[in-house]
Amino acid sequence: MDFKKRLKTAENDIYILAIESSCDETAVSVNKNGLEVLSNVVSSQVEFHKKFGGVVPEIASRKHLELILPVIDEALNKAGIDFKDLDAVAATYGPGLVGGLLVGLTAAKTISLMLTIPLIAVNHIAGHIYANFIDNPDIKKPLLCLTISGGHTDLLYFEDLKGYNILGRTRDDAAGEAFDKIARFMGLGYPGGPAIEKEAKKGDPDAVDFPRAIMDENSYDFSFSGLKTAVMNYINNQEQRGEKINKADIAASFQEAVVDSLISKLIKAAEEYDVKSVVLSGGVAANSRLRQAAADEVKKMNLDFYYPSLNLCTDNAAMIGAAAYYQYLDRDFAPLSISAEPSLRL
Ligand code: KG4
Ligand code: ZN
Repeated sequence: MDFKKRLKTAENDIYILAIESSCDETAVSVNKNGLEVLSNVVSSQVEFHKKFGGVVPEIASRKHLELILPVIDEALNKAGIDFKDLDAVAATYGPGLVGGLLVGLTAAKTISLMLTIPLIAVNHIAGHIYANFIDNPDIKKPLLCLTISGGHTDLLYFEDLKGYNILGRTRDDAAGEAFDKIARFMGLGYPGGPAIEKEAKKGDPDAVDFPRAIMDENSYDFSFSGLKTAVMNYINNQEQRGEKINKADIAASFQEAVVDSLISKLIKAAEEYDVKSVVLSGGVAANSRLRQAAADEVKKMNLDFYYPSLNLCTDNAAMIGAAAYYQYLDRDFAPLSISAEPSLRL
């Protein structure tokens, strides 16, 4: 396969079809020059997984198989782009659920082979970070990025967009995972983050003093399993004593503990590293209490603060297309033999 003679440089318009299928959203976008999103179609499977209280991998794989071709068609139609206009095709290759990843990756490989265009394999977490630049292409660097999703909690330092240092990550549950587990325990439904946020709006964040993980002062690592256990023990004790459970107060107090834990490390890093901007990314960055509290703290330090718009926080393909564009310019292409990597890290 030889696409090398047709490769473009940043002076030309570059159209990339991007596929995201790592969890329970079948998502396809068409991006022009990385950050211009011509279409961004997300077909959510939430309704199919809701009754099980979480994502069922086998159901997710089957739904991705059913949805992938119609969603690709819809993304191309909405963008007004034909297969022949594409310069590259990108797909998330990890981390995530292997069945879903394989569906997206196989579709991308097929398109790459049929059109003789490069295949770009994108790390899902990198995609979440690039989501910020779609809304705000001129974010000043160096920057700190807190990436918080259902599977990840990473604090990263970027000198420029070419490389990053990982300052800290969770030692146990991811922030979103903690939201999902507590929501399920409280019978608030799935996905847990939005359910807790909604319930918390009716409650008092100071009602219950849940623990904030006290880790080594010099570490930027996070931990949420102690908090999760504390909330479960609190509810169990209340029930044993026959006391009424105030779900709104518990949700608000739990959310506040997560927000405090995240922000304390973020601010500590912002004080220590010479950065111009602080950004949030990932599904948990959709949380309005976290956005507000982080904005208040970061602005006190006279730093710029950004987070992606709601539809770019949670899983989508436009963020994968944005990351893929920079890989295209670096000629960072994947062989057709590449496989899904469910445990891929940054
Ligand atoms: O980035 P994402 O869509 O998928 C992963 O890469 O994991 O993140 C999903 C996670 C879930 O755990 C979900 O409960 C959480 O993000 N989430 C939220 C909110 N919206 C989604 N957590 C807190 N507050 C929200 N509003
Ligand atoms: Zn994600």
